[in-house]
Amino acid sequence: MRMDDLVHFCAPARLIIAGGARSQLPALMQRLGYRHGVLVTDTFFTRHTPWVREYVDAAAQLGIATTVYDGGLPDPTTTLCDAATAEVRTQLRGTVPDHVIALGGGSNIDLAKALCLTLPTGAPVKSFVGVLPDGSRPLPLIAVPTTAGTGSEATPGAILLDPENATKIAVMDNSLRPQVALVDPELTYTCPPRVTADAGIDALTHALESFVTLDSSAFDREGSVDPGYSGRSAVTMLFAREAIRLCAAYLERAYRDGSDHEARHGMAYASIYAALSYGSAGLNAVHGIAYAVAGITHKSHGSTNAVMLPYVVDALRATRTAELAEVAQLFGIDGPPAQAAARLPAMLRDLVARLDIPADLNAFGITEAQLDGMTCDALAVARLRKAFPVADGAAAYARIVRRAWEGRIGD
Ligand SMILES: NC(=O)c1ccc[n+]([C@@H]2O[C@H](COP(=O)([O-])OP(=O)(O)OC[C@H]3O[C@@H](n4cnc5c(N)ncnc54)[C@H](O)[C@@H]3O)[C@@H](O)[C@H]2O)c1
Repeated sequence: MRMDDLVHFCAPARLIIAGGARSQLPALMQRLGYRHGVLVTDTFFTRHTPWVREYVDAAAQLGIATTVYDGGLPDPTTTLCDAATAEVRTQLRGTVPDHVIALGGGSNIDLAKALCLTLPTGAPVKSFVGVLPDGSRPLPLIAVPTTAGTGSEATPGAILLDPENATKIAVMDNSLRPQVALVDPELTYTCPPRVTADAGIDALTHALESFVTLDSSAFDREGSVDPGYSGRSAVTMLFAREAIRLCAAYLERAYRDGSDHEARHGMAYASIYAALSYGSAGLNAVHGIAYAVAGITHKSHGSTNAVMLPYVVDALRATRTAELAEVAQLFGIDGPPAQAAARLPAMLRDLVARLDIPADLNAFGITEAQLDGMTCDALAVARLRKAFPVADGAAAYARIVRRAWEGRIGD
């Protein structure tokens, strides 16, 4: 408990976690009264796994029809979303489905989330950016993640790339949180090492960043009575701690050996726990700057977070000493709080390097001439900048970016 907290905790309506849980889905859908859905996925799952066919056939036997869309792509764009809307609506011939199922990583889940808004009317997805009207009722989403990382199955937002200006835009509302988040760790067994590492460090970033973010009592909710994100609280920190402990134990193991089932399960839990933290607390500078890095490099979401994480943590040593010492301890670093917290950034940078992700912005392909523009782009994401718990966010961002490029940690 923290006396000052203003808790506004939101989660998926149902969270199911179990090895093999996917087999329960058809009966659950019947129990929830659904009759006709759209399953959003990509061709890896339709061509190389039996999971789509197994679900569609089992659901059909229970009287539930499913239209499959397998055009999902990594980092979906607004253009892809609008094309998918048109294609699926043509297939549906004027009927409106009563649910959408997402099968895949964060990319497919985000595309499906956006389709929950666009499928009923065919409106372009960009018309939903910003605050949704009161009482909005997107189609119910059932999210089945196949990576252990993004936690999109528990969050209120979908991130899409806008090809017109190469920025990421978000459609965001608590009504977009899934009705069912079904986490079946067995679905991650086929993840290649690169996807495992990038998604896994994304989960660690979500947990750590939300653990040290602005307090709920200081968070600017912009007058909303139903904010998607509202700062850290005792509730979110509970989940963040456990997510960090699980990442410390299992992230590298899952990367080194994808057949290590205990590590796969550990990371599946880490991912959803991290999402139950950041999905209400929100994020700040790592993601804010990572979006700008992705705008230039087009590298994966997880790897752009990874390269920034150690340097942002380094910048918080004075304001979040106790919390960083706690994180350090979860990674096996003991000692007095200030010393343990001081050792954490370098430890994280070593972890990033061991996951074969470049550990500074220079090695990541950013030139010195791009640093100022990148800092400006990062600062422009106001909701993330405002949640960074330091007094002068602009100066802090500039310093972090410079030090991340030089690979400099410590004093
Ligand atoms: N909405 C949110 O809250 C949120 C949060 C974080 C990230 N994101 C978004 O999530 C996306 C990244 O998602 P991701 O890291 O899960 O990767 P991804 O969904 O982009 O998938 C990457 C690749 O891995 C493949 N893949 C996924 N699962 C697999 C499996 N089990 N076996 C084999 N291949 C598999 C996919 O087919 C794809 O080719 C980014 O677009 C990011 O913006 C959204």
